Amino acid sequence: VTTATHDVPRAPAADDESAVREYVHVWDRVVRSTHWLIFLSIVVLSVTGIYIGHPFLIVAGRARDHFVMGTMKVVHFYTAIVFTLAVLSRILWMFIGPHPARWDQFIPVAKARRQAFVDTLKYYFWMRPRAPVVSGHNPLAGLAYAGVFLLYLVMIATGFGLYSLNAAYSSPMIYFHFLLAVFGGAQMSRWIHHAVMWLLIAFFVHHLYSAILFSAVEKAGAIESIFSGNKWLPRGLMNREKRAAHRARERERHE
Ligand code: HEM
Ligand code: HEM
Repeated sequence: VTTATHDVPRAPAADDESAVREYVHVWDRVVRSTHWLIFLSIVVLSVTGIYIGHPFLIVAGRARDHFVMGTMKVVHFYTAIVFTLAVLSRILWMFIGPHPARWDQFIPVAKARRQAFVDTLKYYFWMRPRAPVVSGHNPLAGLAYAGVFLLYLVMIATGFGLYSLNAAYSSPMIYFHFLLAVFGGAQMSRWIHHAVMWLLIAFFVHHLYSAILFSAVEKAGAIESIFSGNKWLPRGLMNREKRAAHRARERERHE
């Protein structure tokens, strides 16, 4: 491992076969359970949402006898509660959770992470033969996830705004009406709510591609890690990163 300008270690190459590896616990229960709750709720919200926007099932008979649209909406709204709680819990966890779950794994404020960000970008553009390996999210993926969390918040805000349109007068949900104005009116909010769904689906396609790619090149078990929480990392890497992050925070406090 070479040392960068500061006392922060530069990320070693991902496919360094000579590195001695250890099996480390990286993703805690909150990270894993919110990831899977969010994934499952997006699947249900997309299927029911596409139906709400384009009711492709036309059922004969009186609506009150089959109630297809009503059922789709109820499922959409209950799943929206799961989605919203999972997203908000994960965001809170970014500030109180352990090192790999923290907000600075998403926004590359530390020098070492910015360096690894540039190195990963170079790797994607065939300008560097090896991707750097870090214990948590690779910094490029981390920043992409920060964008994805913003998209989640847009879905929640436009969804709550749209809900207020039909909420009962006595319901506290009517207080979210102001959100429609924030997004340029009811019709624009609906359009954004619909379009962002496709952005999330597009992200998902790329997400799977890079998870498979990084599993193959890092050989750290990236895909398995989001199930088990563990990765095969070069020995000592996670502890070095934790110590460097701690020292950087201490330095900031004294400056
Ligand atoms: C990733 C998460 C979500 C996805 C993919 C999604 C998808 C969709 C889609 C595609 C529509 C139809 C829009 C159209 O084409 O007209 C829709 C409608 C709607 N969604 Fe979502 N949604 C999500 C999250 C939420 C959340 C968190 C809420 C919060 C309550 C919500 C509430 C609504 C409401 C109120 C409508 C309009 C229903 C109506 O027309 O009566 N959605 N959703
Ligand atoms: C709608 C679909 C999905 C979305 C929006 C999504 C989004 C995300 C986000 C935001 C993270 C960061 C997690 C955190 O720190 O809280 C993440 C991590 C991860 N996801 Fe997904 N995910 C989806 C589906 C999947 C699926 C189906 C798999 C694989 C089978 C998967 C594999 C992973 C892995 C391996 C990580 C950790 C990788 C890393 O270190 O960066 N994801 N995903």
